Amino acid sequence: MVRAWYMDSSDEDQRLEHHLNPPQFVNLEHLYATTGVEYFKLGDESGIDREYLEKIKKERNYAYEDEITCSRDCLPDYDTKLKIFFKEHLHTDEEIRLVVEGSGYFDVRDKDDKWVRIEVTPGDLLILPAGIYHRFTLDSKNFIKARRFFIGEPVWTPYNRPADEMDCRKTYEEWLQSKDSPKHQATAC
Ligand code: LAC
Ligand code: NI
Repeated sequence: MVRAWYMDSSDEDQRLEHHLNPPQFVNLEHLYATTGVEYFKLGDESGIDREYLEKIKKERNYAYEDEITCSRDCLPDYDTKLKIFFKEHLHTDEEIRLVVEGSGYFDVRDKDDKWVRIEVTPGDLLILPAGIYHRFTLDSKNFIKARRFFIGEPVWTPYNRPADEMDCRKTYEEWLQSKDSPKHQATAC
């Protein structure tokens, strides 16, 4: 199961887990309700359920697909790229990632602007809505291989925060506010 938790605010190495003390985990329902992030379990280290993936691609109109490996050896301009990934930003479209190998953390802002760290491992399909502020980091293993999907022609442009005036941001905020706030802030695992 994918794990997510509220982050501490320490400036230590971004590749550490950054749990609160005591840790405050976030379940998938709460994650969706407070961020709009969607998650599908498509497999594990031993492989991906291809049929399930095809079904999701069809349903959600994912026409484009490629693969990215983030490691010092495989990613050109590794240090620069990883810095860009970890700068808080948003996109005009969904960010859709299926982890094939390795692991990493997607950090997303919840409706109260708190950071939620989502740990991804093989078989995890994560969909960040357009307009959500987020960032990505490798963990201490420094390796992830992920498939990227897109509706239509891919646009990877990050708009660094602040980007509050962008239409996609306004649409996202309206959608978030239209949802009822859940009764409980988080559930301990
Ligand atoms: C991206 C992730 C790293 O924009 O947020 O590709
Ligand atoms: Ni991004």
